[in-house]
Amino acid sequence: MSTIPTEYQKGNFRLKNHAVMAPMTRSRAIGNIPNDLMATYYAQRAGAGLIVTEGTSPAPEGLGYARIPGIFSEEQTEAWKKVTSAVHEKNSKIFLQIMHTGRIGHGNNLPEGVSVVGVSDVKAAGQMWTDQGGMLEHPQPVALSESEVEEVIDQYVNAAENAIKAGFDGVELHGANGYLLEQFLNPHVNTRTDKFGGSIEKRAKAVLDIAEKIAASIGKEKVGIRFSPNNTYNDMTAYPDEEVRETYGYLAQKLNEIGITYLHIAQNPDIKKETFDAIRSNFDGTIILCNGLTPASAEEALHAGFADLVAFGTSFLGSPDLIKRIETGAELNALDFDTFYTPGPIGYIDYPIL
Ligand SMILES: Cc1cc2nc3c(=O)[nH]c(=O)nc-3n(C[C@H](O)[C@H](O)[C@H](O)COP(=O)(O)O)c2cc1C
Repeated sequence: MSTIPTEYQKGNFRLKNHAVMAPMTRSRAIGNIPNDLMATYYAQRAGAGLIVTEGTSPAPEGLGYARIPGIFSEEQTEAWKKVTSAVHEKNSKIFLQIMHTGRIGHGNNLPEGVSVVGVSDVKAAGQMWTDQGGMLEHPQPVALSESEVEEVIDQYVNAAENAIKAGFDGVELHGANGYLLEQFLNPHVNTRTDKFGGSIEKRAKAVLDIAEKIAASIGKEKVGIRFSPNNTYNDMTAYPDEEVRETYGYLAQKLNEIGITYLHIAQNPDIKKETFDAIRSNFDGTIILCNGLTPASAEEALHAGFADLVAFGTSFLGSPDLIKRIETGAELNALDFDTFYTPGPIGYIDYPIL
């Protein structure tokens, strides 16, 4: 008997099963506005107990990638309603992932007159796709002043409030994979000397302020956050394991005090057992584990003591009816990597369903 398809409950957090659809940017939001195609895509995958949407920007500056959605304007907020109602009709829950790309961006992808901003002016190595010029280098970001960080915090709160207006069950803060919130946490990228930089506590301050204010505004039970300890993607320079353990142990402890519903951990082989232990021992709420899980390894993870829920990214992308396939032991569809980020329905809503 597999646990994945069975109901889940911890505290007031109830899901129809133990499987989460991981957040995935799909670049179908032309003009940064959600649309009918996106509603169809998410409804197809509503077998998941919880869907976490693609990264969605709380501000014009955070729209670093081509064709990603926003949640800062009234038009965007209104348009998200077709997604949330399509998913709710299929009896699943849906959290909006709030993602500010920070220094991972390009001016071509941002609205006119808007600049790429960063926690510091440390430029990210690497390139990104722009529809106008193909692959281009990340620019040197404009460092946010202290008062501008406070404005960004307010933008997150506003985004979360908009998400609730749009019908989402909650929000997931994207604190992983090298975007703005992880840029605050990383000692090599965050070179600030004000209250948002320096010690572990100061580097965690923006993240915790955002979580606390959002919890106060929309309710702590509607807040989750995603982390990726030891992540080096998006030019996040590695730092000592001991400091990683302390950073995420501290975050888990403070987020537990705030009382948010879940931590979502994007795992990688470099994360030490001590770091997993520091997170689990400091956090009483739900922990979601993601990255590289197969139906079999996910089932094992649910019984290993760390994870309460398991998340699947590419498996849900390619197999909309993943839960049914887990239940029946059916094979998963092959993935078409070329259409992960291309506009339009191909490779998006046309994966075969059993
Ligand atoms: C096309 C694609 C887009 C992604 N976009 C996001 C994103 O917007 N936010 C995020 O936190 N992770 C994003 N991820 C990472 C996934 O959430 C997940 O961590 C990753 O796919 C590994 O899990 P998997 O092995 O189950 O696919 C993305 C992954 C893929 C494949």
